[in-house]
Amino acid sequence: MNYNIAVLEGDGIGPEICAGAVCVLKKTGEKFGHRFNFTYHPIGGRAIDEYGIPLPEKTVKACLESDSVLLGAVGGYKWDDLPADKRPEKGLLELRKAMNLYSNIRPAKLWKNLADASPLKYELVKNGIEIIIVRELTGGIYFGERTRGNKNGDEYASDTEKYSVHEIERITKVACELAMKRAKKLVSVDKANVLETSRLWRRTVRAYCEKHYPEIELCDVLVDNMAMQMVKDPAQFDVVVTSNLFGDILSDEAAQITGSIGMLASSSLGETKRGLYEPIHGSAPDIAGQDVANPVATILAAAMMLRDSFNLNEEYSAIETAVQDVLDENYRTADIMSQGKIKVGCTKMAQMIADKI
Ligand code: IPM
Ligand code: MN
Repeated sequence: MNYNIAVLEGDGIGPEICAGAVCVLKKTGEKFGHRFNFTYHPIGGRAIDEYGIPLPEKTVKACLESDSVLLGAVGGYKWDDLPADKRPEKGLLELRKAMNLYSNIRPAKLWKNLADASPLKYELVKNGIEIIIVRELTGGIYFGERTRGNKNGDEYASDTEKYSVHEIERITKVACELAMKRAKKLVSVDKANVLETSRLWRRTVRAYCEKHYPEIELCDVLVDNMAMQMVKDPAQFDVVVTSNLFGDILSDEAAQITGSIGMLASSSLGETKRGLYEPIHGSAPDIAGQDVANPVATILAAAMMLRDSFNLNEEYSAIETAVQDVLDENYRTADIMSQGKIKVGCTKMAQMIADKI
């Protein structure tokens, strides 16, 4: 089969980590008899420099015409002082919205032999951790009304959190489907003791689950308690569903608990099979161009694309196994380096993973 993949490298380490993922995809294609065609399109800071905006119309068009999209990362010091609408991050948010990618799945697992990269005590992680965060991605405070003003010399700003039942139900469905394939356990995170949107969230998730997925054991957890529970006993969680903002925060925490943000991939999907696949980490401008970044998150994002957009399950597993094999041989990038291991750069890491396929 032939697959057209739009690659949006973005800024900072974006080009390096995308090159790593493309290298692994090419090898996977050769092995399994697929042809992956890659086209490259600007987004983020680079697009601002070239076109004056973070998401040129032609990039959106190319993404919508592709079979799926692979993204590196956006942002950097150079563009930090631009107004909100011209920031690189705005390009990513607009793209998620333009492709209607309301469902963001972020699996945080503790890799075998990587327990020493977790900052938690060994007893807490020794039995493994796998938390799958299902984050609502096109609603909530990220996309609500914003204001800025000045009242009697006191400058102010506001952002608005808003959710509809429809938005909550469709992300709940995604989480329930996933929970059904796993332990039939679902945790929904909100701040229902304070926020009106959270009270609607809690009520809607519960009603939807009880009606459509009565076998699922649903548990509501307040976000502050969740942040604590995740470091206290991370192994108790399986599938977690939450809003855009809470999902953003908790997925960074989950990533660190399982070792490094450099290992965590994500898929974003809507009503079609065309998705956006990216690492959950940022563009790390401080280490850009030095060939020291960890390409694994992006490589795993590419693997998720094969599985979730193209139904290539075997190919997905081949990449996942290759990553584990390279870790088992003690190769580590700087972010997951520990005593006695062999340090390698971004290109080398990706090449070794590709070689295992
Ligand atoms: C993420 C990132 C983005 C987000 C930024 C870059 C806009 O932090 O994907 O988690 O907040 O969603
Ligand atoms: Mn984030």
